[in-house]
Amino acid sequence: MTPSDAFRHVASRPHEPLRTFHPRRAPLSAGREDALARLWPRFGFSVHDPRSPVPLRDGALDTRALFGRSAPVVLEIGSGMGETTAAMAAADPARDYLAVEAHLPGVAHLLGLIDRAGLTNVRIAHGDALDLVRSVLPEESLDAVHAFFPDPWPKARHHKRRLVQPSHVALLRSRLRIGGTLHCATDWVDYADAMLEVLTADPFLENTTDGFAPHPAHRPVTKFEQRGLDLGHEVRDLVFRRVR
Ligand SMILES: C[S@@+](CC[C@H](N)C(=O)[O-])C[C@H]1O[C@@H](n2cnc3c(N)ncnc32)[C@H](O)[C@@H]1O
Repeated sequence: MTPSDAFRHVASRPHEPLRTFHPRRAPLSAGREDALARLWPRFGFSVHDPRSPVPLRDGALDTRALFGRSAPVVLEIGSGMGETTAAMAAADPARDYLAVEAHLPGVAHLLGLIDRAGLTNVRIAHGDALDLVRSVLPEESLDAVHAFFPDPWPKARHHKRRLVQPSHVALLRSRLRIGGTLHCATDWVDYADAMLEVLTADPFLENTTDGFAPHPAHRPVTKFEQRGLDLGHEVRDLVFRRVR
């Protein structure tokens, strides 16, 4: 079972609710079709398609069944092509990485990376991460949330689509354990300033540093980040901890 038309239905109706990703259609290369056919049943599931369902236990995501063990879970929202997810998971074998990506070619690419590197601590969900979080992730169930280079939605009238906004931050933070971290990065200066304001205003979060964080050595440069750097953009990291 591979991800199917169910998501096309979601993506083609970006206003119900407002989605934080761009509805994009991209054909799958033969290699990615092959990765999906071989690896999706082992490492993937769909947020929106009941034919490839979210593994549940008592109505919540069953991470023990998903990863085959009990370990702290890192949620990555918008893993893109997955290189950063794969590299961070390889360097961090004691934690499990759940990547969620709306763009199917990125899902397929990460499946190939998982396979080639022999990673056992990465799973990928296809679809809207916020829907997954809202519907099946219990409070205080995550060790960390990563949001690296979320779509910047630069036009003012599109700011309501940004991932980092008060209601989404409250949702994501509620799923962190006390002491867990929310790590965001962006190469859009005005989005970085907005992120800092939103995260600082959340009463349950505390900045781990004064203002923006130095680029942590454990976060490899992502594909979108490199694109931004090539354009002369400045990159900002923000690392906040849930304190209550
Ligand atoms: C600008 S790209 C960055 C990708 C990657 N993190 C990187 O730095 O190379 C943002 C990605 O987030 C995905 N995305 C945005 N909102 C999402 C959501 N709510 N659920 C899942 N994926 C989402 C988009 O499809 C896109 O691939």
